[in-house]
Amino acid sequence: MATPIKLAIIHYSSTGTIAEIAKELHDAGVKAGAEVRLLKVAELAPQAAIESNPAWAAHHTASADIPEATAEDVEWADAVLFGTPTRFGNVSAQLKQFIDTLGGLWAEGKLVNKVYSGFVSSATAHAGQESTLLALYNSIHHFGGITVTPGFTDPQKFVDGNPYGTSHVDGQGTTPVDDVTRAAARIQAERVVQIAGALKTAA
Ligand SMILES: Cc1cc2nc3c(=O)[nH]c(=O)nc-3n(C[C@H](O)[C@H](O)[C@H](O)COP(=O)(O)O)c2cc1C
Repeated sequence: MATPIKLAIIHYSSTGTIAEIAKELHDAGVKAGAEVRLLKVAELAPQAAIESNPAWAAHHTASADIPEATAEDVEWADAVLFGTPTRFGNVSAQLKQFIDTLGGLWAEGKLVNKVYSGFVSSATAHAGQESTLLALYNSIHHFGGITVTPGFTDPQKFVDGNPYGTSHVDGQGTTPVDDVTRAAARIQAERVVQIAGALKTAA
């Protein structure tokens, strides 16, 4: 039997939307036969900022048991799914800070030839989703990584309409992750595991 693909799902989430998508990706990755680590990155915001927003405070408490990602997790992985809420059309500072801890692995050439893909959420439609994923993918070029996006590889992708990665519009917390976003997550996880497997077999 082939060795399972090692998939790290590394995300930042303030109010839980990205965390919910990360869980769907986790379950789909496991179903596709991967060994999956579901990980968050460290919170950087001051406690007072977190406590000023009830949804943020609630998610901060609810996610306390999710392990924090380290560079070792990226080294371990054959494939990495990075998730972030959009921040003015860009990657959140928390996820970016984690990516910036990978300089040591980068210098040793240990980020190359892995599969990478991204997922995002925003408050309003469009509103920076694609620019956030493209900004995230800038770093993958520097890693020498292989960006595997969902494209329109499944008829369902014409329903959610984002070929760059799974995305969700949360309506300022009023629109929970729905079946369309869950289907997009499943397609992305399956594709990432499939392409990582093909690369591993070919190596
Ligand atoms: C500082 C800041 C900037 C944001 N920028 C945008 C934005 O450019 N476009 C948008 O639609 N939502 C923006 N949002 C909203 C979040 O990206 C959105 O609610 C996201 O779905 C939250 O994900 P989470 O629940 O995983 O934290 C911003 C939120 C914050 C706090």
